[in-house]
Amino acid sequence: MNIKTKNLVKSYDKKKSHGIEVLKNINFEIKSKEKVALIGPSGAGKSTLVHILGLMDRPTSGKVYLDSVDCFAGDSSYLCNLRKKKIGFLFQFHYLMPDFTVLENILLPVWKEKNIKFREAQNSLRKIGLLHRQDHFPNELSGGEQQRVALVRALINNPKVIFADEPTGNLDRVTGLEVESLLFEASLELGSTLVLVTHNYELASKTDRVIKMVDGNIVKSFHKENL
Ligand SMILES: Nc1ncnc2c1ncn2[C@@H]1O[C@H](COP(=O)(O)OP(=O)(O)OP(=O)(O)O)[C@@H](O)[C@H]1O
Ligand SMILES: [Mg+2]
Repeated sequence: MNIKTKNLVKSYDKKKSHGIEVLKNINFEIKSKEKVALIGPSGAGKSTLVHILGLMDRPTSGKVYLDSVDCFAGDSSYLCNLRKKKIGFLFQFHYLMPDFTVLENILLPVWKEKNIKFREAQNSLRKIGLLHRQDHFPNELSGGEQQRVALVRALINNPKVIFADEPTGNLDRVTGLEVESLLFEASLELGSTLVLVTHNYELASKTDRVIKMVDGNIVKSFHKENL
């Protein structure tokens, strides 16, 4: 999926005298199947940007085009539908539902088709070595296991774009590397675009392109070979 923004602005506290402009006129494009890392200091606006690109938050002004579709021209149910069908999201914290089992958590985004998706969910669990934990609850799993389950959940709708916001920020190095390689493998398999927010340069260097944000602006965009 191709992602393009036009004059994207996000600001808070418009009514108060000290308005905060978190995204300042962002114009950029990510090509279909491209793997991009978004880096930059804390508070630069990285999470805000991927939340808007992932249609979880609205911009104050400007446009987001996903495969040339002007997404925010649609109402919330349109956005919700698009998000469910085309977008996968992985966060620093797993956000699994504590009262649902591992298998139920994975099936939540596709609950209406849970009988059809059941086998696929089990196959994915087998692939990450957690099939035997399908009836366990999230708090019975380790942090790395929880994050792997969250990844399977993010992929259950075969998304055309995956947004991952510091997906390994909470994990030790070895577990982080495991989640990283699952993430890259999945995006290759699905042929999806990958947008990865990270403070980890080693991880960033594994993508096709690194985009640097500072203070609500994109200040640099460089391809892997120029790192
Ligand atoms: N609801 C809000 N109201 C006011 N300001 C907000 C709100 N949400 C975020 N911000 C501000 O927007 C700025 C960008 O936040 P964002 O979470 O996008 O940064 P980030 O680059 O992801 O940082 P980090 O690396 O720490 O995760 C910050 O200054 C933050 O305080
Ligand atoms: Mg952030």
